Amino acid sequence: MTYDFRIAAADATTMYRDLASALEGLVAGESDAIANMANAAALIWETLPDLNWAGFYRNVGGELVVGPFQGRPACVRIPFGSGVCGTAAATLQVQRIDDVNAFPGHIACDSASASEIVVPIVRDGKLLAVLDIDSPKTGRFSDEDEAGCVRLAEILAKVL
Ligand code: SME
Repeated sequence: MTYDFRIAAADATTMYRDLASALEGLVAGESDAIANMANAAALIWETLPDLNWAGFYRNVGGELVVGPFQGRPACVRIPFGSGVCGTAAATLQVQRIDDVNAFPGHIACDSASASEIVVPIVRDGKLLAVLDIDSPKTGRFSDEDEAGCVRLAEILAKVL
């Protein structure tokens, strides 16, 4: 079987709608969390322009541990409350940061990162993981990106 999920949409809303459908298709009927995160990271990486990292940190006993991703090797463990990912984990709130260098405590795994969005993946009030997407462009992530990424996190919350 071959997967061709190359998505070329005219606008961000359509692109995220297509991305969400592709993700639903990829994870349908699969209960292995690592497999689903791996395919999700690859799909996001292949679809969204101007990224230098896309992937997951999992909640392992109250600490974030790097999961499947695309991009350069990254910090392995991040305590809740530390950096952008740790803030998303501690608050369960989306963190959309236009300039990571202005974020107190930002953890620079790759000095190319300029902006970042981190979306908590929550089921039954419990944090499963965070979706972390980084860009070398300042202010890369818009309201539409945030809404689209929140939708992806909702799909993943059912299959992690
Ligand atoms: N920048 C993140 C660390 C993770 S990497 O970017 C992959 C942070 O401050 O949470």
